[in-house]
Amino acid sequence: MKILSIESSCDETAAAVIEDGRKIISSVVATQVEEHKLYGGVVPEIASRRHCEAINGVIRETLERADMTLSDIDALAVTAAPGLIGALLVGVNFAKGLSLATGLPLIPVHHLRSHIAANYLEHQELKPPFLCLVVSGGHSHIVEVKDYTEMKIIGRTRDDAAGEAFDKAARTMGMPYPGGIHLDKAAENGDPLKYKFTRPKISGSEYDFSFSGFKTAVINLIHNAQQRGETIPVSDLSASFRKAIVDNLTDNFIRAAGNLGYKKLVLAGGVSANSLLRKRMTEECEKRGWKCYYPPLSLCGDNGAMVGAQAYYEYLAGHTAGMGLNAAATMSIEKEFVC
Ligand code: KG4
Ligand code: ZN
Repeated sequence: MKILSIESSCDETAAAVIEDGRKIISSVVATQVEEHKLYGGVVPEIASRRHCEAINGVIRETLERADMTLSDIDALAVTAAPGLIGALLVGVNFAKGLSLATGLPLIPVHHLRSHIAANYLEHQELKPPFLCLVVSGGHSHIVEVKDYTEMKIIGRTRDDAAGEAFDKAARTMGMPYPGGIHLDKAAENGDPLKYKFTRPKISGSEYDFSFSGFKTAVINLIHNAQQRGETIPVSDLSASFRKAIVDNLTDNFIRAAGNLGYKKLVLAGGVSANSLLRKRMTEECEKRGWKCYYPPLSLCGDNGAMVGAQAYYEYLAGHTAGMGLNAAATMSIEKEFVC
């Protein structure tokens, strides 16, 4: 089954043709990052306008690279939630138009479910059930993936998402948006033990996270140093900050897996590109004889391929939509689209 999938939830206009949820036939990503960089973050209004301009060309190029026309496609898929509402609406309405014109079934896809599915494109043997750490710019969840379309959140951030914390700390250190990747690189030459970050105590769920305190600590360290006329070594601060976030993510994830009996652990979302997170998780899983999976770097960020991968399993589960489909800025990964 060949699915043409569309992604426009944030600042990438992307599309792909995916076969049976596991094989990329073509994939095109048009990023707007250079424009948003000027403002230090994504400007929603600009994102929507750029999606409008790019979407037709991106889909045309995706079909051309696949050497296909719409008549070779069996179904259409689109990210319908969560994300920037104006940005999502561009993809959703384009997909609805294509579905109306071609009569092809329309499959709405949850953005975070698609991040998880990026792993299916790389690891052909990977099948649920498994435990997944979904870490992106907007979310940080530990999710039990009981089946392809059955998920349960067992841990979440109480404040900032991991990617958001990386970006804000990087911005305070003068790095360009999106800062996560720059901070990760700067950390490679730094001393991770130079600065200590106190992990917050969280009452309630034992697997929940809180990252805003780490971010505030970075801001305070820099401001205090500036007032004293000193400069803080960016590489040491980056390395210490990265260690604090990654230790927190890894500890909770490993503990949850141990308690719940999962031996297959999966990373997903933009922050799964973090080099220390990948290394630490690989080591911790090897020690215990567990398997650790993460997407290739090319599929960690937003892309259309992961949408087509998840869409295949949503289709098999009967989750298609009609012309009443609407986009939603927020939606739990546990929920199905009602349309
Ligand atoms: O999943 P994603 O592409 O978009 C959302 O759905 O939010 O995630 C983007 C986030 C950004 O915060 C970005 O800085 C972060 O992923 N990121 C990283 C790295 N690469 C991307 N964070 C830490 N280390 C990285 N290497
Ligand atoms: Zn994303």
